[in-house]
This record gives sequence, C-alpha cells and structure tokens, in this order.
Amino acid sequence: MQTFQSIKQVILNLDHYSLKVLATTAVGIGGLLCYLALRRKPKTIPVGDGWWRVGERPLNEDTTIHPFVVESSEEMIQDLYQRIDQTRYTNSLEDSRFHYGFNSDYLRKVVSYWRNEFDWEKQVKVLNKYPHFKTNIEGLDVHFIHVKPARRAGQRVLPLLMVHGWPGSFYEFYRILPMITNTEEDVVFEVICASIPGYGYSEAPQVKGFNTMDAARIFLKLMERLNFTEYYLQGGDWGGFITCNMAQMKPERVRGLHLNMITGQAPGTMTLFSLVIGRYLPFLVGFTREDVKRMYPYMEKNVYELLRESGYLHIQATKPDTAGCGLNDSPVGLAAYILEKFSTWTDMKNRDLKDGALERKFSLDDLLTNVMIYWTTGSIISSMRFYKENMGTNFQKRVDNLTKIYVPAGLASFPHELLHCPRSWAYSRFRDVRSYNYMPRGGHFAAFEEPELLAKDMLQFAKKVESKRLK
Ligand SMILES: *[C@@H]1O[C@H](CO)[C@@H](O)[C@H](O)[C@H]1NC(C)=O
Ligand SMILES: *[C@@H]1O[C@H](CO)[C@@H](O)[C@H](O)[C@H]1NC(C)=O
Repeated sequence: MQTFQSIKQVILNLDHYSLKVLATTAVGIGGLLCYLALRRKPKTIPVGDGWWRVGERPLNEDTTIHPFVVESSEEMIQDLYQRIDQTRYTNSLEDSRFHYGFNSDYLRKVVSYWRNEFDWEKQVKVLNKYPHFKTNIEGLDVHFIHVKPARRAGQRVLPLLMVHGWPGSFYEFYRILPMITNTEEDVVFEVICASIPGYGYSEAPQVKGFNTMDAARIFLKLMERLNFTEYYLQGGDWGGFITCNMAQMKPERVRGLHLNMITGQAPGTMTLFSLVIGRYLPFLVGFTREDVKRMYPYMEKNVYELLRESGYLHIQATKPDTAGCGLNDSPVGLAAYILEKFSTWTDMKNRDLKDGALERKFSLDDLLTNVMIYWTTGSIISSMRFYKENMGTNFQKRVDNLTKIYVPAGLASFPHELLHCPRSWAYSRFRDVRSYNYMPRGGHFAAFEEPELLAKDMLQFAKKVESKRLK
C-alpha cells in the first residue's frame, strides 16, 4: 500500500514533458518486446547423427532388412521355472493392498498362474502372428513388426508408425492392430510397430547418451528405409516424446501426429499462476470445466501424490543399473516391478484394492507376455537407462522442449492419464491441433486398455486430416 501511495505521488508530481518522455520510452520498450516475441523461432530441431556401438563406425553399413521370428527354448523355460520356484516372498502388511507397492499375496497368485498355466510357447505363436523384422541402424539392430491392411475398394491406405513406452512393448498394440488395419472406414492404416532401442527385441546402445531424439532419428531412418515418404505417427509415454521429436525433425514427412499422452505447457511462465487461479477462475486461464474436473482432485493432494508415484522415475533417472540388477535376475521381482504400473497407471484408485484391479482391464496372459518380452531379452536395465539419458541434464531446456510442434496433431486425453494437460496448454505447444478429445474412460496404456476408443479416435483424426488435404 505504502509503495502504491508513493508511486501515485510521483506520477502526480510529473510535469508534462516528463510524461511525454515516459510515454515514448514505454512505446519503445513495448515495440521491442513485440519484436522479440514475433521474431521467427526455428520450427524444426536438428536431426543429428549417432553410432551406438563400442568402436569405430564402419565405412559401409549393412542396410538390409531381415525377417525375424520370436523363438522360445526349453532351456529358457526351465531356467525361468527354476528361478520362480526359488522365489523368496515377503508377506505384505495387513490391509496394505497396493499402497506399499505390488501386494505379495496377489503376487503369489499371479506367479502361480505364470508357473502352472501361462503358456509361453502359445504366446510366442501369438507374437509371430504378424511378420517381424530387424534392420541395423546406427549400429543397432532395430526390431519392428509390419502389418499390412486388409484393403477394401476405395479405401485410402495410410502408413503409420506406433511407438510404445515404459514398461510396455510393441505387444501393447496387438489388440488395436486389427481395428485399424481392417476397417470399414474410408481410411485404413498400414502399421509399423517398432521397439525402442534397448527395449525387447531392439538392441541396446553400448555407449552413453541415447535419448528420445536419437530414437526419433533412428525411426525416421527406419521409415525411410521402408520407402515411406509420408506417414502418420502415434505414441504415448516415451513413444509420445519420440514421435513428437520425429515431427520436429522432419515435419515434411509427418502427415499427422496422434498422441495419447499430451505434454503441453502453460503459455509463457504461467504454469504456477494458472494452476492456482484455475481452481477458482478457470475461464481466466483458459481451462474448460472438464480440465478442472480432471486436474484438481489430483492437484489437491498434488505434491505428495506426485512424490508417491514418481519414485521409480527418480531411481531410473539416476542409478538404473543398481535396481535393475535385481530385476534382471529375478523374474518375480521383474513382474512385480512392471505390473505394479499396469495397476496404478490404469487408475490411481486401484491402489485401494487387494489385487490392484489388474485383471479388470487386462488378462494375465497379455500382462505376462509383456513381462516375458523384458525377461527373455534381458532388457529391463537398458529400458530403465532411457530415463537417465533423457532426464540427466537440462531436460526442460532441451531444444525439443523449447520448439513447438507444427504438424497436424490429434490429441486424445484419457481421464486416468498420469497428468492431465489442459486443452489450452496443449494448443500452446501443438500449433495445428485438428482434434483434441476428452476420452470417456481409460488411463496411461490407452492402446492396451481401451483399444476401441483409441482406434476410433485415430481414425476420425486421420479422416479429418485427409479430407482437408483433398480440398
Ligand atoms: C525401396 O525402394 C528401393 C528402390 O526402388 C528398392 O530397391 C527397395 O527394395 C525398397 N525397399 C523396400 C523395403 O521395399
Ligand atoms: C518444458 O519447458 C517448460 C518451460 O521451461 C517447462 O515448464 C516444462 O516442464 C518442460 N517440459 C518438460 C517435459 O520438461
């Protein structure tokens, strides 16, 4: 108040001339600010290059594409059973449900199913239902499946790359694939599902520093090697970051980018302000009623809630090799670590249940197949390292975070996603949003959990993009 009074006093005391000088200066500063704001910012990020093996890059790289078949062996299964049989369990605390992590009473049930009923050979046949391939890029054998559509007369075939995240795999897409490659719509997808290097059947980098931009460049090279000149991208979790990076590196290749995990940000440095004000005056900061509904029950308990669910992230972003060592040695430990996420990230409320509601949306066969992809390839540590490589230094200041995204974007906001991104924040990062939909159900693993909803959203988005191109 005191300050305000004295400022008022100063202004009253100013003579005519000083006011003029002040006004001119204000206009000058305003103009400069406008110029700085409107100055053309780069619309793409550098593509770069890399080599991820120890040793020199050879002069001639092998660019052939080899068919690949997932195989199981009796030896591997016997080793798995032996380890499962020797598991040392610790009893869960009374009534702890999923609040201390994966409940060990329920874990015993899952493991008993794994040991006695789960049929890996049968699941391997399921995995091999689609043709698999590998090709070497930047020194790494990159794995992918290629699913050609059942094309109907008059249908437009759209190439699409789908990218999974952690702790998932290409297998997350097996339920949605029939829905988008065999449909009555005017458009149908021809799909490539690639494994991120270090995940499942894609080889892990042998040297430090492999982040989402490197994965993006490798997948751009993959699509080029497959002779796709223009295509769609779809992703969530790390797959969302990677596909965004691809769109930032070569927007001319990307016809449309569909995401089920949206990373936007408040315009300018308004994040905290928006969060505080948005609770009470949502219209002032551009939040819709649905945004408020999705953000605040969670935000109320915000800091504690975030801390409670992000321990894995801190471990993986700092010392992945230490915790990963135990997981790579114990199938039961690995299953608990991975499957806990399929419970909590489907719905935080699942922590209140004895079985984490794990089988409400997923079958144990599907869940354990995903675990087996990590187990049989020994890829848990390399998958965890991806956090360290991305979050090590200056994650927020990285060029991909400071550059907006200009390709047509389709954003599907699932209600139980870990963090809700308000529509207005999404629009500030994605400059050409063709559809932003509040999905009625579902969480973090959209394709695995709600394949029909996701398929529908992807198809309507592609139809929108295509019809505008025709005009
Ligand atoms: C891509 O096109 C080239 C040149 O036409 C051809 O040699 C190559 O076999 C094609 N690759 C694939 C994967 O179809
Ligand atoms: C990107 O940068 C903005 C602004 O610095 C920051 O608020 C946001 O958290 C960053 N996003 C990520 C994913 O780091």
